[in-house]
Amino acid sequence: MNKTPWDHAGAAESIDTYWRTSPLEIEWRSKLKACLKESKIDLTGHVLDAGCGTGLIYEMLIELGMKPEAYCGIDHSEAMLALARWRHKEAVFMQCPVDEGEIVPEDYRFDTTLCISVLQHMKSYENAIRTLVDVTRSTLYIATWLHNAPDVIRFDGTYYGNTYSVTRMLAFVSSCSKRVMCADCKMLFMQNGIIVVRMKDA
Ligand SMILES: C[S@@+](CC[C@H](N)C(=O)[O-])C[C@H]1O[C@@H](n2cnc3c(N)ncnc32)[C@H](O)[C@@H]1O
Repeated sequence: MNKTPWDHAGAAESIDTYWRTSPLEIEWRSKLKACLKESKIDLTGHVLDAGCGTGLIYEMLIELGMKPEAYCGIDHSEAMLALARWRHKEAVFMQCPVDEGEIVPEDYRFDTTLCISVLQHMKSYENAIRTLVDVTRSTLYIATWLHNAPDVIRFDGTYYGNTYSVTRMLAFVSSCSKRVMCADCKMLFMQNGIIVVRMKDA
């Protein structure tokens, strides 16, 4: 697999340190954790963490009561995965892109899927969301940079700075599959919103 922007020398280590020490990151992650808890996230079945980075979402899910064997983290960056595997030898972390079609063996579904702060780093989110909807049996959580104005869908040609409209994303998610029962959004912190998608098979 080609090197990703996350594989530049030292990038994984420095962003991991930032996530663990920046007051803004700490506040965002604590709001995210409270929101997952409030939504009664089901961590008893199979859990997919798409774009798992260095394992901070894994740590949050363990704090929320998940057993390590329930978890599968995927990411396209070998450097991010190396740090996650080094920290959490008990968990499964696999190298796999979220937006290039099949991400797990055919017919495999996860009860709960999370894709936290990943889509804003892609040039477009459609393929990733279709795939995530396909592999999710019960509930999908998507956190990304959102805006309440209905017409915001900005791609600035880089991996960064993408801001999406809540209305458009909800409409797109709902159009992906008849299995989508409902999709709601909650704005959490500094333009970070979380979309909670409930599936009919739940
Ligand atoms: C901002 S980090 C978030 C990491 C983790 N979800 C968290 O909240 O701590 C974004 C992660 O998404 C991964 N990523 C970006 N685009 C991806 C893609 N197309 N497929 C898989 N992973 C991707 C990056 O390698 C990076 O680890």
